[in-house]
Amino acid sequence: MEENFQSETERLSYIVAITGASGAIFGFSLLKALINHSYFVYLIISKAGFKVIKDELRMFVNLDTSGNLINLSDKIKDEIVNKFEIYNDRFAFLDEMFLEAKIASGSAKQVKGMVIIPCSMGSVSRIACGNSGNLIERASDVMLKERKKLIICPRETPFNDIHLKNMLSLTNSGAVILPPIPAFYNKPQSIDDVISFITGKILDNLGVENDIYMRWKGYD
Ligand SMILES: Cc1cc2nc3c(=O)[nH]c(=O)nc-3n(C[C@H](O)[C@H](O)[C@H](O)COP(=O)(O)O)c2cc1C
Repeated sequence: MEENFQSETERLSYIVAITGASGAIFGFSLLKALINHSYFVYLIISKAGFKVIKDELRMFVNLDTSGNLINLSDKIKDEIVNKFEIYNDRFAFLDEMFLEAKIASGSAKQVKGMVIIPCSMGSVSRIACGNSGNLIERASDVMLKERKKLIICPRETPFNDIHLKNMLSLTNSGAVILPPIPAFYNKPQSIDDVISFITGKILDNLGVENDIYMRWKGYD
């Protein structure tokens, strides 16, 4: 049977989810990097994610993001496109309650994997329990059941034993726990250097060739 792909780029896609933990800038950096590497990206931002973005990045401040966002998706995309200088037609913004989305199902074969960055402890907990109440949780559940790549970038410090148990449970289920912890061997000069390092580490883990961060070369 013929599959109904919208475009060639959409054939190879990733899901990027931004939840309500500190560091949404990492999520937007990954969105831009994947688009620059010719992938189509499905972007989901949780309701709490919008709260943190408004506070940390001063984005979407004039939008009421507390309700259904389907009618606001063009405005949300425009703001992302303008701030991060990325192509508008290479990503789709999906409301976190849009459970009818194709990525909510294992039949979305064009999706190669998913990254939740930053990932709140709330989302870690719900995904670890298989509690798929929104599209972020459901798409994560699909990644695990389909044995596709699911990278979770948890943001909290310190971790309590509940956080650690949930992350152990996720790693045992096949997820990769990749905390956005910077290295200093590459002598970062700016916050951008730190963001690029984490973005590059994620791309490496997805198997996407990149040279956006300085690798440890070792001593002879
Ligand atoms: C400004 C702000 C920053 C937050 N930072 C974190 C954080 O770094 N890690 C975390 O686990 N929760 C953080 N929270 C709490 C979560 O947003 C909250 O638990 C929320 O219910 C998570 O929902 P979500 O997982 O659906 O995004 C923060 C909340 C706010 C308002």
